[in-house]
Amino acid sequence: MISSCEQQTVDAAITSRRSIRAFLPTPIAREDIEAILEVASRAPSGTNTQPWKVYVLTGAIKQKLSAAIMAAHDDPAVAGQHTVEYNYYPVKWISPYIDRRRKVGWDLYTLLGLGRENKAGMHAQHGRNYQFFDAPVGFIFTMDRVLEIGSWLDYGMFLENIMIAARGRGLDTCPQAAFTSYHKIIASMLDLPANERVVCGMSLGYADPGKIENTLVTHREPVSGFATFLEEQK
Ligand SMILES: Cc1cc2nc3c(=O)[nH]c(=O)nc-3n(C[C@H](O)[C@H](O)[C@H](O)COP(=O)(O)O)c2cc1C
Repeated sequence: MISSCEQQTVDAAITSRRSIRAFLPTPIAREDIEAILEVASRAPSGTNTQPWKVYVLTGAIKQKLSAAIMAAHDDPAVAGQHTVEYNYYPVKWISPYIDRRRKVGWDLYTLLGLGRENKAGMHAQHGRNYQFFDAPVGFIFTMDRVLEIGSWLDYGMFLENIMIAARGRGLDTCPQAAFTSYHKIIASMLDLPANERVVCGMSLGYADPGKIENTLVTHREPVSGFATFLEEQK
C-alpha cells in the first residue's frame, strides 16, 4: 500500500521538475550520480533491452567538450556544417505544436530581456546549452544505431527517471536536444564507437536561485485537452 504521504512525495518529485538553465558550481559527489543512474536504470524497456548508454562529464573533459562545441557554434561558417543526425522535431511544423514551441521560446527570451531583434543575445543564450548552463555535471546519452523506435520510448522513461531521481536529492536538470547538432564533435572527443548515436545531453546540478531564467513557468494543457474518457453508452 502506498500512503498518502508517499503519494504526495512522488507527485512532488514529478511536478517540481522543470528545466533549469542556470546552475551553481557546487560539485555533485560521484556516489550521488551513480545512485541516480542506478535508480533510473529501473526504467522499463521492451523485453528489458535497456537501450541506454551514458557518458558522465565533469571537470576538464566537460570544459573541453564545451569549448569545442562553442567554437563551432560561434563560427557561422563552421556551425552551418554541423547538422542533426536524427530529426527530434518535425521538418514542417503545424499548430498547436508550433504555437507551444514559440510560446516557451518567447517566454524565456522575454524573461531574459531579449527582444526579437536581438539575434546575438538569442545566439548567446542558445550557446549556454553547450556550457551545460554551468552545471557541474553533463551527461551525453547514446543508443545503438541498430535499435528501433520502441527503444526511443524506453529511453524517454530512463531520462525522466534520472530527472525525478535528481529531484529526490534536491538536484535539478535540463534535458538537451541541442547537443545533437554537434554529434560529430561529441563522437570524436568522447571516442564513441561507430554504432553509437548521440540521443541528447543533460545538465545536472543545483539550480541557481538568483537567475531569472530559472523562474520560467511553462504551461500545460488541462487533462480535458488531451484525454478522452470513453464510456459505453447504456
Ligand atoms: C528530450 C528533450 C530535449 C530538450 N532539449 C532542450 C535543449 O536543448 N535546450 C533547452 O534549453 N531545453 C530543452 N528541453 C527542455 C524543454 O524546453 C522543456 O522540457 C519544456 O519547455 C517544458 O518545460 P519544463 O521542462 O520546465 O517543464 C528539452 C526537453 C526534452 C524532453
